[in-house]
Amino acid sequence: MDDTEVPFPETGRSGDDILEQLRSERAEDIDWKSGRAFSLVYNVDEEDHERLLETVGAMFLHENALNPFKYRTLMRMEREVVAMAASLFGSPPRAGSMSSGGTESIFLAVHTARQVARDRGVEKPQILTATTAHPAFAKACHYLDVEQVRLPVGGDGRAEADAFADHIGTRTALVVGSAPCYPFGVIDPIPDLAALAVENSTLCHVDACLGGWLLPFWERLGEDVTPWDFRVEGVTSLSADIHKYGYCFKGASVVLYRDRELLEKQHFVYDDWPGGLYASATAAGTRSGAPIAGAWATITHLGVDGYLRLARRVQQGTRGFMDAIRSIEELEITAEPDMSVFEFGSRVDDIQAIGDVMDDRGWHLDRQQGGLHVMISPGHDRVVDDFASDLRAAVADHGEARGIEAIYGSVS
Ligand SMILES: Cc1ncc(COP(=O)(O)O)c(C=O)c1O
Repeated sequence: MDDTEVPFPETGRSGDDILEQLRSERAEDIDWKSGRAFSLVYNVDEEDHERLLETVGAMFLHENALNPFKYRTLMRMEREVVAMAASLFGSPPRAGSMSSGGTESIFLAVHTARQVARDRGVEKPQILTATTAHPAFAKACHYLDVEQVRLPVGGDGRAEADAFADHIGTRTALVVGSAPCYPFGVIDPIPDLAALAVENSTLCHVDACLGGWLLPFWERLGEDVTPWDFRVEGVTSLSADIHKYGYCFKGASVVLYRDRELLEKQHFVYDDWPGGLYASATAAGTRSGAPIAGAWATITHLGVDGYLRLARRVQQGTRGFMDAIRSIEELEITAEPDMSVFEFGSRVDDIQAIGDVMDDRGWHLDRQQGGLHVMISPGHDRVVDDFASDLRAAVADHGEARGIEAIYGSVS
């Protein structure tokens, strides 16, 4: 039976029956714990961490964060998550909110910038981004009727401040940089972009959805990290996903602002209906309590020492994977990454054909237009040798590419 033709069930099934079906079906799904999957799940590879998140998630599963005054523990946890994030990234404690993920955080930041631009009389606001900016910016612009000007990156994969300077003008509501961008894992020149925003009296957003919860610890491990957070004058908002390198389960991000006045542009308050005053801080109405509790428990459980421990494993894994790729003459890393995310291609072969063999050998490397994408989680340090030998074999022996497309998201 085609899954578009499923009739509404006449009678309910037992929980055991449902669980049995799901367990057996799921056995065919990608095993993210194997270390052979990338990007969609961040594998911490620590049992106690996983158990804690499962327990806390179940504990707050039914609670609704729509009205925080009804669930005071949720309200406290959410405020503390925002305050802890603010202390990590250098913004005031009550100038941010949790959202469901990077896309929502970015949507909110673009909306805030649009409102600020409208307040100063701009009828058709625009934002400036590099071509490597996450599609969430295009999506936000699409929904919010804002123009996105996409500027090409340099040979190192980074945004070029000069190109931004050529396009900035009175309609510019927001200058955007990534820390780092998803395709190549490089950090845009945030100090230059933010300075440009200041000179032109406009706002600057840093998309640290991917790097926000890793870079502070990466830097403490002695890695060279370009300044990218609120320590940089001119950065006015920042998005950082706790469900990525923050190591919470899905549905947890923060959007932070340089001051509370900017945050208030995102608030929505309405009383023109019979149901009483309706106020919400983000795009969602009803919100699950689970990601709030999960985020609070994760940050509290790991602390600086835990995040450093995991960052060290990510660093080891990244070095191992990059060394494996560099040891194969035909392969090259597209742009030297600033973190644990990068693309690699081949000088000689069709990289997609190499990707096909890696698929057959049980690896789930994401495809991009120019190569294969790698995103290292703590658990990947265990599979470096397997990766190196499978990759060597794939380069040495592969056929024609099967034509698998680079697909990042999907609609059904
Ligand atoms: C740099 C960057 N920004 C934004 C996002 C969007 O995050 P989400 O998928 O949580 O909406 C991602 C997702 O990978 C990302 O890598």
